[in-house]
Amino acid sequence: MENNLSGIAKVRANILNHLNTYQHSETIYNASKYSIEAGGKGLRPLLLFTVLEALGESPDKGISAASAIEMIHTYSLIHDDLPAMDNDDLRRGKPTNHIVFGEGTAILAGDNLLNESFNVIAKDKELTAEVRIRLVETISTASGQSGMISGQMLDIEAEKRATTLEELETIHAYKTGALIKAPVTAACIIADAAQEVTRRLENFSEVIGVLFQIKDDILDMEGNPELTGKNTGSDVKKGKVTYVSELGLDGAKGALADKVDEAYRILDSLNELISTAGLRKIVQKFAERDQ
Ligand code: IPE
Ligand code: IPE
Ligand code: MG
Ligand code: MG
Ligand code: MG
Repeated sequence: MENNLSGIAKVRANILNHLNTYQHSETIYNASKYSIEAGGKGLRPLLLFTVLEALGESPDKGISAASAIEMIHTYSLIHDDLPAMDNDDLRRGKPTNHIVFGEGTAILAGDNLLNESFNVIAKDKELTAEVRIRLVETISTASGQSGMISGQMLDIEAEKRATTLEELETIHAYKTGALIKAPVTAACIIADAAQEVTRRLENFSEVIGVLFQIKDDILDMEGNPELTGKNTGSDVKKGKVTYVSELGLDGAKGALADKVDEAYRILDSLNELISTAGLRKIVQKFAERDQ
């Protein structure tokens, strides 16, 4: 990053700047800003910037795409926490959006972040029109019925019936993996990466996407709310199907370790093509996080 702000700080500043430009409702602006400022870990932007660096491209070129993905991710959390979904009252160490602003406003703040995310990319004149369109296609595909939305739907439906481990991996791949793959594909589009490099990086991102949600399931069981910023035991309370409910805590940790090995193996195969050091650190961060 070229100035003093870290990547995620630049992304947050860019999002807030965008949200403050056109709004005609202080309430929507404040509710949207509340969840953006609550301070998520910024892992999807970090992934996007790390892939850009690995491909020899300036991370600053990825700010609009990283902002859009972080906006969509934040919206998905606002809606995920609603009483009709996971009914959670703590997020990012703060009361959830609907607890502070009410359900109607929280729904609209989520809708706002989703819609405005594409506006952020559309107006980024540093990128060519072709790149902007490809980014919008990639990110909307990851967020909609081919990705996160179907994952969230399958997650709700899985509460009511028996689920195999294979089905569970599919749910994780859609509800969480899709929005972890999107920053990797986006970086490859921005850097105009070779097809084979893109293919292997996307394969890597699919593995760390599922890995990330397995760790989320483990933290829901044994995490420290002071660090994760969300309550433990939410999945059990809702009867969610998770790696922990299916395999037990040790089994889930074993599945996580298998995904870590798989991710490193893919990075090994990329070694002679790109610099993988930053991506190795991300695998470690995803697997060992306590936040
Ligand atoms: C939480 O994602 C929701 C999942 C997809 C598991 P993060 O753990 O990345 O949440 P923030 O952005 O840091 O709050
Ligand atoms: C949510 O998964 C993934 C989303 C698409 C928001 P979870 O319901 O497990 O996420 P947390 O644990 O509430 O962050
Ligand atoms: Mg959920
Ligand atoms: Mg949830
Ligand atoms: Mg969870």
